Amino acid sequence: MTEQQQKTPYDLPDASGLTIGILGGTGDQGKGLARRFALAGHRVTIGSRKAERAQAAAGELGADLPVSGAENPVAAGESDVVIVAVPWDGHKATLESLRAELAGKIVVDCVNPLGFEKGKGAFALPVEEGSAAEQAAAVLPDSRVVAAFHHVSARLLLDPGVDEMELDVLVLGNDREATDLVQALAGRIPGMRGVYGGRLHNAHQIEAFTANLISMNRRYKAHAGLRITDV
Ligand SMILES: NC(=O)c1ccc[n+]([C@@H]2O[C@H](COP(=O)([O-])OP(=O)(O)OC[C@H]3O[C@@H](n4cnc5c(N)ncnc54)[C@H](OP(=O)(O)O)[C@@H]3O)[C@@H](O)[C@H]2O)c1
Repeated sequence: MTEQQQKTPYDLPDASGLTIGILGGTGDQGKGLARRFALAGHRVTIGSRKAERAQAAAGELGADLPVSGAENPVAAGESDVVIVAVPWDGHKATLESLRAELAGKIVVDCVNPLGFEKGKGAFALPVEEGSAAEQAAAVLPDSRVVAAFHHVSARLLLDPGVDEMELDVLVLGNDREATDLVQALAGRIPGMRGVYGGRLHNAHQIEAFTANLISMNRRYKAHAGLRITDV
């Protein structure tokens, strides 16, 4: 067996000192991730199109956590790792406007391009570049784009009664050092484990699978997540 094959999802770099910025961090997903990473000891900057909204969101999470709020360009510029948590509608334009701030950074895309229709439920939208993550990589050629956190429930992230998240996060990307670091970052949240899930050209089905999870959640009144067996 080669060294590459022996590598486990636990043989990862130390991510404990990383600062995290979250674009669109005023929404439930961004705020939920901000809360969990801050609880794990990371300094987090919630980003927004309006500084006041970001500061209000940071304030809602509690003065005892290392979270602040700022406009998206500031959150992007001052953080080691930047999570994209804006709706699909605003994805491309947001990233295009932050190309300079995001250059050289690890950019973690958790955006699910989904549509919703009565009688049909949630479904994956076609994306010209293949997936939201590949769109991010096309728009940000100087950034290290990683896809992760698509299946993490914002409700659970924000629920103070949930101590452990109990799910695996599939981490995809073309830069193995960057995917290792994001796997390690996922592992900073109690109960969560980051598992390498392939290169960016496989991101479409990971984003699309969220539509299936939404169907499960509706049917079973749950907040379903994934566990990968035998790794
Ligand atoms: N909710 C979940 O459970 C969940 C789980 C996994 C992945 N995701 C993904 O995470 C992303 C965020 O989800 P969410 O539920 O938190 O979304 P959301 O509340 O609809 O949006 C998040 C924030 O994005 C900003 N925003 C809204 N429209 C924008 C636009 N056109 N351009 C730039 N910024 C815009 C807003 O912040 P400001 O107005 O303050 O700028 C908003 O508070 C989505 O792409 C979703 O697919 C969500």
